[in-house]
Amino acid sequence: MPHKVLIAPSILSADFARLGEEIRAIDAAGCDWVHVDVMDGHFVPNISIGPGVVAAIRPHTRRVLDVHLMIAPADPYIEAFAKAGSDIITVHAEAGPHLDRSLQLIRSLGKKAGVSLNPSTPESAIEHVVDRLDLILVMTVNPGFGGQAFIPAMQDKIRRIRTMIGTRSIHLEVDGGITPQTAPLAAAAGADVLVAGSAVFKDKHYAGNISAIRTAATGARS
Ligand code: DX5
Ligand code: ZN
Repeated sequence: MPHKVLIAPSILSADFARLGEEIRAIDAAGCDWVHVDVMDGHFVPNISIGPGVVAAIRPHTRRVLDVHLMIAPADPYIEAFAKAGSDIITVHAEAGPHLDRSLQLIRSLGKKAGVSLNPSTPESAIEHVVDRLDLILVMTVNPGFGGQAFIPAMQDKIRRIRTMIGTRSIHLEVDGGITPQTAPLAAAAGADVLVAGSAVFKDKHYAGNISAIRTAATGARS
């Protein structure tokens, strides 16, 4: 019996002028989570959205809001994203010197805590905080923009992190360049949550696009 693979469309590729409608559309199309990319123009070379937008989209779906903070520092903004209605808050391991503190702060606000690793960051960066984690997000592109190509070398890192997780109840999510072609590579390596922006929003057929990624990935999960 294959494990279930969750699909989290990234609204970075949605039409920002119609965000509520877009969220309702991916919800109706059968997404599992809604992935929200927060960028500050400092940690990554792009600026996207803030906690006000998270609060504005919250009433449009009951799905998990999976908020990916590509900001440094992150700590001063975590409470605002929690209050805005995030379910999972993910910070980057590279975003500050006190990752352990950031993770404790997220959980103290009643939210699930995630950590993300840039492509060049080794998995050893999180080995001493693994028991504070609900989710590990492996970047399979350099963060900042949608529509980039999946970096194949990340498959080995995904495999190592799957081993590190062991029997713990921690999601292993991948983000960047996920398509029906690359989803099986990530899933076979051990990912159980797949973020996809351009591959979901590339045309109006959101349900078909989500199910193409899910079907490709589910077959590859052992
Ligand atoms: C990259 C973001 C991703 C991105 C994914 O910085 O974290 O979530 O939007 O987009 P695609 O699926 O187009 O690579
Ligand atoms: Zn993301």
